[in-house]
Amino acid sequence: MTAQRGFVGASARGEALGVHSLDHFSLLVPDLQVAQRYFTDFGLDVRERGGTLHLRTYGSDHTWGVIGEGPSKRLHHISFGCFADDLPRFKSHLEANGVALLDAPAGFQSNGIWLRDHNGLLLEINVAAKSSVDSKMSGTFASSPEGIAGAPVRAKAPVARPRRMSHMLSFTADIEQAIAFYSANLGLRLSDRASKVGFMHAIHGSDHHILAFAQSSAPGIHHSSWDMACIDDIGLAAMQMADKGHQKGWGLGRHVLGSNYFHYVQDPWGSFTEYTCDIDYIARGQNWQTGHHADEDSFYLWGPTPPEDFVVNYEAA
Ligand SMILES: [Fe+2]
Repeated sequence: MTAQRGFVGASARGEALGVHSLDHFSLLVPDLQVAQRYFTDFGLDVRERGGTLHLRTYGSDHTWGVIGEGPSKRLHHISFGCFADDLPRFKSHLEANGVALLDAPAGFQSNGIWLRDHNGLLLEINVAAKSSVDSKMSGTFASSPEGIAGAPVRAKAPVARPRRMSHMLSFTADIEQAIAFYSANLGLRLSDRASKVGFMHAIHGSDHHILAFAQSSAPGIHHSSWDMACIDDIGLAAMQMADKGHQKGWGLGRHVLGSNYFHYVQDPWGSFTEYTCDIDYIARGQNWQTGHHADEDSFYLWGPTPPEDFVVNYEAA
């Protein structure tokens, strides 16, 4: 987690306008108890707040996800963080772009800006501490010295928990339109893409992607991704989930775009939560060489064959 860098606005620095973080996502699910158990098993600090669940990582007071109750699993909105003096700039910018500014939805108190993306997905831009990291959080590998056993016995395996949320991947009906919309209106920049996926970073320094898109017929959440300290912690956490009955998923593997190691666990609603580590980092002011890659070259570097329903959007009608 990064310390709050203060709400210094981009305008004061004469920089381009852009959100600095994906602050949190909001999801509706039919049974909060199921969600509470799943995300607790996943290693998150799940707090009840006024009929919703707040997803935190241990040791941080940042809320990465808000889960409410609804008739079926549905991505309700995504909230992005910006610096304080960028908020009025965003308001003028969006109005100049012809984007309709909305009232906060019922049940959500916010001084932020609410809008819908090209696909009708509800978004918020609000002033928030920068929750995207300010430098690369490397995955470590510690080899044990000669004469010392590196692995504990199974009964003494340490508990592995996520350090922070890295990114999320949402479904969208048109990748080109998604890249265009989020570039023009939120100031995200394209990092890399293939035919049916696109990965975008924030201009104030962030992981290779804080938001990614996969093509579908409708909006929806594909996965949220949670940063782990090392590959060993990904393996330990995946084992912890399997021991608790959450065995379906995909991993261990390594992605090409973002370079991150991964293990996905399928959640009770058919979408995924990803344990990840060592994702590429794009510093403020750094020019990432954007690539448009062949699908067969860019999905994963190594790993098992993905499950057949890996890219099914269960939120599409
Ligand atoms: Fe991911």
